[in-house]
Amino acid sequence: MTTQKATNVTWHEGEISREDRQRILRQRGATIWFTGLSGSGKSTIAVALEQALFKLGKLSYRLDGDNVRLGINKNLGFSEEDRKENIRRIGEVAKLFGDAGVISLSSFISPYKADRDEVRALHDATSLGFIEVHVDCSLAEAERRDPKGLYKKARAGEIKNFTGIDDPYEAPDQPEIHLHTDQMSLEDEVQIILDYLIEKGYVVQNHRSRAEDGEQTINAEIA
Ligand code: ADX
Repeated sequence: MTTQKATNVTWHEGEISREDRQRILRQRGATIWFTGLSGSGKSTIAVALEQALFKLGKLSYRLDGDNVRLGINKNLGFSEEDRKENIRRIGEVAKLFGDAGVISLSSFISPYKADRDEVRALHDATSLGFIEVHVDCSLAEAERRDPKGLYKKARAGEIKNFTGIDDPYEAPDQPEIHLHTDQMSLEDEVQIILDYLIEKGYVVQNHRSRAEDGEQTINAEIA
């Protein structure tokens, strides 16, 4: 657990509550946390799920390992300590998004169980939904896909501490959702997550989506 450094700081409540924000958005904020090897399909699923949620009129936002490491976490590498800090920061960011009423889709290898559990505890403490999705893919298949050519480099010793090669990955014991991406289609994977969100009440289907309404308005304006 990271210790609090600054003293004499207190939380300042506003006048508008999370419930108020959620009423505007007509949805509940939550974090969908994808964890798995590089090349397992985390970002691909997040992109497809974002589209599916948009069609249902739900606002989601992707937080992606590679993207975040080019910005807020550009000062972090891949040592155990840096990966821990990477996940801690994104856990906090996801919590803020959730409090704003947004469904965040976080795609990080997040190889350490303890780090993921800390993010879960952070969400539990403020009654925000945390849905851990194990994007499970055999190392052999991830290495066969090798979309960025990184496994090849890791095998050649050009990248050190590469997850699955010479760095550990601790699989979740009890994820809310377990996908086997080396055996399932992308459509099925997205549907499983959507079904879960609907069943648990995170997503309530309005009879007509706002996104569709918005699209029609924009099209009418263009025409
Ligand atoms: S995490 O371990 O800290 O959660 P994160 O998901 O942010 O990792 O970043 C992983 C991405 O960084 C990989 O998809 C890959 O593109 C790139 N990468 C570069 N070096 C490494 C490494 N040593 N281990 C894992 N991924 C790496």
